[in-house]
Amino acid sequence: MIIKPRTRGFICLTSHPDGTAVNIKNQIEYVKSQGEIKNGPKKVLVIGASTGFGISSRIAAAFGSGAATIGVFFEKPATEGKPGTAGWYNSAAFEKEAQAAGLYAKSINGDAFSDEIKQQTIDLIKKDLGTIDLVVYSLASPRRTHPKTGVAYASVLKPIGQPFSNKTVDFHTGVVSDITINPIDSQEDIDNTIAVMGGEDWKFWMEDLQKAGVLANGVKTVAYSYIGPELTFPIYRNGTIGQAKNDLEATASTIHSILKDVNGEAYVSVNKALVTQSSSAIPVVPLYISLLYKVMKEKGIHEGTIEQMYRLFKERLYTENGEIPVDAEGRIRIDDLEMREDVQQEVDKLWKEATTENLEQISDIKGYREDFFNLFGFNFDEINYDAETNEVVNVPSI
Ligand code: NAD
Ligand code: NA
Repeated sequence: MIIKPRTRGFICLTSHPDGTAVNIKNQIEYVKSQGEIKNGPKKVLVIGASTGFGISSRIAAAFGSGAATIGVFFEKPATEGKPGTAGWYNSAAFEKEAQAAGLYAKSINGDAFSDEIKQQTIDLIKKDLGTIDLVVYSLASPRRTHPKTGVAYASVLKPIGQPFSNKTVDFHTGVVSDITINPIDSQEDIDNTIAVMGGEDWKFWMEDLQKAGVLANGVKTVAYSYIGPELTFPIYRNGTIGQAKNDLEATASTIHSILKDVNGEAYVSVNKALVTQSSSAIPVVPLYISLLYKVMKEKGIHEGTIEQMYRLFKERLYTENGEIPVDAEGRIRIDDLEMREDVQQEVDKLWKEATTENLEQISDIKGYREDFFNLFGFNFDEINYDAETNEVVNVPSI
């Protein structure tokens, strides 16, 4: 196949297997260049393992700590004339590299919200690894079918209370415009969003894993959250998705209790705003990210998902003295550089100035686009996009 990027809104409909392989290799090289994570995890389950923070967590565990990894995700392989999804190719590339390095790596492709996929995962752990010592929960999804009731929930991205008006950007065209996002119609919008992106499924996973006896003594589990600046509060932290994140964060202490018998610990890590398939779907946020990238790159403190996940493991979850630094609410913070006062002040200033005319100059919209296309394996210099792609022989082992 000859594969070119085809976009519809904030979605890229195609992915390039050779380009995604370069993306994965670059991430692996980064981790190797940073050196070993001492006392790091050895048997890791990553739920939401194929893109964004999830694939980077898997790479940091495997190549930073020599971990055996099982990845769970929901992706599509190529079909006649149609490329597979980026997460499918990422996982194929990851498995190939892991196996070449002598590391165990297997994947399960299916609905992580379902009881069936949880059971399949437990069976695989029992057969191959016995126990798991780290569970990373990195799911991002717009919908969830509840495994006990069969009810299908769809999340919404809305403010609560009053309409929210602010600037936003179409990152393809660079057009900055004003938008108004209407608030929720009813409490149901909040409840549905919590049902999809809140903590219940993380709890179900940890309960099932615990009951099956596949968690090692001292097991850790981590899920990802976001806070961000005040200017995105109405659409993010104080909006419907923020209510789900509050629920996720509260679930950490519930899980802590579930894990008492195995001396386990549950954490939420607050991560930096980054270009992923999920974040590009949130209005206002892409403009914020393109200004944030500009400021952080100028200050030499920009990080991508792999830099974030390596730092999470090395300087938070697996420190040399064994202590995990957390904030007053018990959360791990790797959004510390994003939230630095000097960074936020400069972003604020640029935010007020940003227009279609000055965007290319005052923001890193170029870097935003680059990251977006890179997610799907495009815009890599190493790849000739006019050539036939290599056949992906080493598909994820399912
Ligand atoms: P992403 O879209 O890149 O990754 C989502 C993952 O979930 C993929 O592996 C996908 O296959 C998997 N998935 C989705 N639905 C599934 C299902 N039903 N069954 C199995 N797998 C499924 O998203 P991301 O940005 O890496 O987000 C991961 C977490 O990090 C989320 O909790 C998100 O809120 C959080 N986070 C993101 C940002 C950001 O800026 N992107 C910042 C802080 C925190
Ligand atoms: Na992810």
